[in-house]
Amino acid sequence: MSLIIFLQKLMSSLRNSYTLRGLFEDATEGSRGSQVIRGFPVALSMHSMGERVEVFRGLFAAIPLSVLGSYDVPWVPTRRQLIDYVMRIARVGEGDIFYDLGCGDGRVAIEAARRGAKAVCVELRKDLIEAAMENARKAGVYDRVKFVNDDFFKVPIGDATVVYMYLLTRVNAALKPKLEKELKVGTRIVTLDFAIPGWKPVHVERYYIAGLVRTLYLYIRGVSDIKPTRSPISET
Ligand SMILES: C[S@@+](CC[C@H](N)C(=O)[O-])C[C@H]1O[C@@H](n2cnc3c(N)ncnc32)[C@H](O)[C@@H]1O
Repeated sequence: MSLIIFLQKLMSSLRNSYTLRGLFEDATEGSRGSQVIRGFPVALSMHSMGERVEVFRGLFAAIPLSVLGSYDVPWVPTRRQLIDYVMRIARVGEGDIFYDLGCGDGRVAIEAARRGAKAVCVELRKDLIEAAMENARKAGVYDRVKFVNDDFFKVPIGDATVVYMYLLTRVNAALKPKLEKELKVGTRIVTLDFAIPGWKPVHVERYYIAGLVRTLYLYIRGVSDIKPTRSPISET
């Protein structure tokens, strides 16, 4: 019995710890129309495909802030196989202005540029933006990619037609006011594995890759972010 009380107290303190907050946010978030996983013990069980991704998300979100330094999210690159799916779900092509917020080594932005888009690679880490520049040169698309070594919260994004974000739920939530304020109606926003809280995706796709379920969410500015009306229907 005392063991149960001890475990309950431990769970409660973990729930309140900042570094593990993401684990609980992401493990309890669930997804529209599919598995809804609630709570820590379920998120740690490995019995189904759907649950495994929650463990992956949790571990990603739980990386201690001391490791992250001042960054909002660690560098975990999008798997090459998923990049094609990102391009397809967002229908990236000529005429697009594609932003990757936190672009890492530039692989997603570079693929957008290969497909004819103008890409903007926004990355806080200098070593990564330099790697992205080098990779764009090698891919022959350097002149189609703009590199911005800055905090994505400070970078204007109003000219985007597509925005890609492989971040964390809490960072997506923090970026939401900026997306709502700056993006034009009709802009496509694709997120990998982490939803934008409070927005309705127009499309969700799941892939089973290397033992994990990966999820792409497609949002459209002006559709996904409509707030429910507060005024009741008047009966006059
Ligand atoms: C999960 S990685 C995704 C990298 C890349 N988008 C991809 O899919 O391969 C997140 C990236 O965001 C960067 N990042 C974190 N906080 C940032 C911020 N406030 N401004 C700009 N970049 C940031 C990290 O350095 C990291 O490279």
